[in-house]
Amino acid sequence: AATTRYEAESSTAVCTGTVDSDWTGYSGNGFCNGTNTSGAYAQFTMDAASAGTATLGIRFANGTAGARPATVAVNGTTATTASFEAVGAWTTWTTKTLTVPVKAGSNTIRLTPTTADGLPNLDYLDA
Ligand code: GCU
Repeated sequence: AATTRYEAESSTAVCTGTVDSDWTGYSGNGFCNGTNTSGAYAQFTMDAASAGTATLGIRFANGTAGARPATVAVNGTTATTASFEAVGAWTTWTTKTLTVPVKAGSNTIRLTPTTADGLPNLDYLDA
């Protein structure tokens, strides 16, 4: 099936932080710079044609020296975790591929950091 791109700065997404555009290479109008606390999150709303598993491509950048791990919740239930490893620079956008269960129709995908360092910068979710 065709891939749809869901930008982190779109009106259907939630960015607990700021939408920034100071690091080049992002898609759309900017990216989500989540607040550096464990409670901050980024949420996408994506559509699935049918129930089953969806492959998500999450584009991120992490210019720090350490990983920015996060849980990945689908419709409020944690489905998996993602490491969001250090990639060397905030301009080095990298796509992380995850597989999660979805229901038919609209689904929320929420990334919540597991440490107080917060999330990486997040550009979009492809699904
Ligand atoms: C820097 C960088 C931000 C990033 C932040 C972080 O401030 O400019 O884009 O979000 O570090 O550590 O999360």
